[in-house]
Amino acid sequence: MGKERVISGMRPSGKLHLGHLFGALFNWKNLQKEYDCLFFVADWHALTSEYENTKGIKEDIIEMIVDWLTIGIDPEKSILFIQSHVPEHAELHLLLSMITPLAWLTRNPTYKEQQSEITNKDLSTYGFLGYPVLQSADIIIYKSNKVPVGLDQLPHLELCREITRRFNFLYKKIFPIPEPILTDIPKLLGIDNRKMSKSYGNAIYLSDTKDEVTKKVSQMITDPKRARRNDPGNPYICNVFSFHKLFSTKDEIMEIEKECPVAGIGCVECKKKLAQNLNVYLEPLREKRAQILSQIKRLYEILNYGSKKAREIAKSTMEEVRDAVKI
Ligand code: TRP
Ligand code: SF4
Repeated sequence: MGKERVISGMRPSGKLHLGHLFGALFNWKNLQKEYDCLFFVADWHALTSEYENTKGIKEDIIEMIVDWLTIGIDPEKSILFIQSHVPEHAELHLLLSMITPLAWLTRNPTYKEQQSEITNKDLSTYGFLGYPVLQSADIIIYKSNKVPVGLDQLPHLELCREITRRFNFLYKKIFPIPEPILTDIPKLLGIDNRKMSKSYGNAIYLSDTKDEVTKKVSQMITDPKRARRNDPGNPYICNVFSFHKLFSTKDEIMEIEKECPVAGIGCVECKKKLAQNLNVYLEPLREKRAQILSQIKRLYEILNYGSKKAREIAKSTMEEVRDAVKI
């Protein structure tokens, strides 16, 4: 029996930060061992909110793919491609839009939330409302069985399952109903203790230099009650300590746990250790990154090959779909 198929996409956000790494990418990387995976850049999805400012998208796509390859998304194992290079997604999206009741879209909690939260853009568009319909097309056009997503994406996947059931019921049972693979994501905050995000300017990037990392770590917020060196601290509320848990050795972690509450270690020293360890962790990735950048032609070859492979599957599905819809 063939392997089950997994698909996931990411909007092109440019260079990736540690939040992406622990949020999605490590998970993707591991899934490659067990499943037939397709990973794509959702550039059309980016347009649903960034339609007014599209000039950086191509660059953002390339920066993001460089980081995918850097951390071990492997083009020999998985199909990597750009959504807009497989126009069949758009055709299926159109057909799905015919059978999707408006009420399913307007009651989507993610839609409502973003409508009220994002106030600097006009999101009262047709494309933005149809975001999950396009996402459904992305998923089922490959007859995907599983979709790794974060909690925030669950409503979208639930909608996808409903739309898929409706298609199968109205026309023909072509598509498996895709299931989520929920990732247990360790919360990684930015250096200002808010969610790590490009738009907050609080992120540590995979591509940051040694000095940039050291500087950012030195700016991290610690236990606010520790105003002076002699004040006792609480590592369990300190973001620096959360980072240590990911990047430092067991012994170092235990020592901070012991010394911080009795002011045996100062925050400056504690951060210095973290910056060192983080740099040790990132160094091989920097080397890999430089190597990928030195062969940028290969990157385009990978994407061309990926689009071709993805298109073969998508085209064959669309033949079945047109036949089922009788069009
Ligand atoms: N909506 C996803 C996100 O913002 C990106 C995405 C688009 C996606 N199409 C997809 C994810 C299909 C999984 C499957 O992260
Ligand atoms: Fe945080 Fe380390 Fe300072 Fe304790 S010593 S408050 S863990 S930075």
